Amino acid sequence: MQAQTICVVGVGYVGLIQAVGLAKLGLKVTCVDLDASKVAMLKKGIPPIFEDGLEDALREVIARGNIVFTTDIGEARDCGLFYVAVGTPTSERTGNARLDYLDSAVAGIAEIAPAEAVIVVKSTVPIGTCAGLQARLDRNHPGKGLEIVSNPEFLREGTALKDFFNPERIVIGGTSEAARQKVRDSYAAFEDRGVPMIVTDTSTSETIKYAANAFLATKVTFINEISDLVETVGGDIDQVARGIGLDSRIGPQFLKAGPGYGGSCFPKDTLALATIGRRHGVQQQIVETVIRINDSRRFHILKRIEAAMGDKLSGKRVAVLGLAFKADTDDVRDSPAVDLVHALLEEGADVQSFDPVARLAVDHRGYSQCETIAEACKGVSAVLVATEWAAFRTFDFASVEALVDRRYIFDMRRIVDITASWVPRWDIERIGSPLMR
Ligand code: UGA
Repeated sequence: MQAQTICVVGVGYVGLIQAVGLAKLGLKVTCVDLDASKVAMLKKGIPPIFEDGLEDALREVIARGNIVFTTDIGEARDCGLFYVAVGTPTSERTGNARLDYLDSAVAGIAEIAPAEAVIVVKSTVPIGTCAGLQARLDRNHPGKGLEIVSNPEFLREGTALKDFFNPERIVIGGTSEAARQKVRDSYAAFEDRGVPMIVTDTSTSETIKYAANAFLATKVTFINEISDLVETVGGDIDQVARGIGLDSRIGPQFLKAGPGYGGSCFPKDTLALATIGRRHGVQQQIVETVIRINDSRRFHILKRIEAAMGDKLSGKRVAVLGLAFKADTDDVRDSPAVDLVHALLEEGADVQSFDPVARLAVDHRGYSQCETIAEACKGVSAVLVATEWAAFRTFDFASVEALVDRRYIFDMRRIVDITASWVPRWDIERIGSPLMR
């Protein structure tokens, strides 16, 4: 493989993992981001996001001289390969992914890139976006031979670095063999290990990304619906999940019942796929139904808590354990836990939350963010476990028995250890197990 200098434009979540990952593989990477304060932090080896192992990896690649950070795209003029990982937030107005950051990043790269450079879209983009970008490049820079390639990411927050180094497949969508090969070369270390490479056209590649996330969101929503059934007819959802998941045609992952999917990807990507379908007159009915069910789930959970408390929530004090949309991240975007906090406050409850890392920028009467689980439990009528942090699994609730007003736990993640010795002294309800009454 030829040594190549690679440029990563946009060092948000995806871009930073990609850049640090490639640098750790031994490639030379120039990172460009418009945000000067972020670039200054990164130069000092401080990642702007919380991600397991990232800080160590970042410091290592800086020390090895494999990565540099800049706000000036001009510093990447010798790079032959540009990964673009800028944000594509959902437009509130249309439901479409907004492409303005991507458009201007690609335009900026095209100005400085050498002839025959390859511009790789890592951002999740509506199907057809890469073809549109290519047409614009051909129009604005005729004869320069720039090529767009789609290369979606499949990283999970919290395990992103591990996912980067252990891909289950790599998807590369482009038009010319030369451009696709250039991208393939940057992943040679994985190909040598036998990781499957799906080398295809841009449209297929873009579709794979949406279809993967929508399928996983569907799987989660499916088990959540079965979980509701189990709560009424009896049974145990984890055993149901295990019983179906051991069938290799179904598979065991993404069958954990909970408060519904959240985060910065599933909600955005399912909505984008539904919008794309409608725009092309091919309604994605399954995905649309999944979105509807997932949206209403948070409301149903609130009703269930209300029923368990036998009363209106107004005036009650409640502990919410976990704010992040899932464990091992500080990300609160589209977090079911955060929606729950807001809904409880709206109902007039007082909320005391605790999360090991995530914080909310909410200043509301009756809302406080606590430093410990015990502090969050003071004087509460209910403890709601909203994120599956390990700290909640092992927490000894006997230590807060004297602090709470009522010993009631609503476990939305089925994480609390129900074999613990304190359990008989508490009322515990769990998603996916029959209701107490
Ligand atoms: C997801 C995908 O898993 C990644 O492959 C993809 O690259 C990423 O989106 C993206 O498009 O960038 P992520 O959003 O980090 O990754 O989180 P997941 O671990 O997939 O969880 C998504 C949501 O589903 C969370 O709210 C989680 O709590 C929920 N979930 C997941 C469940 O409720 N049950 C499960 O069994 C699994």
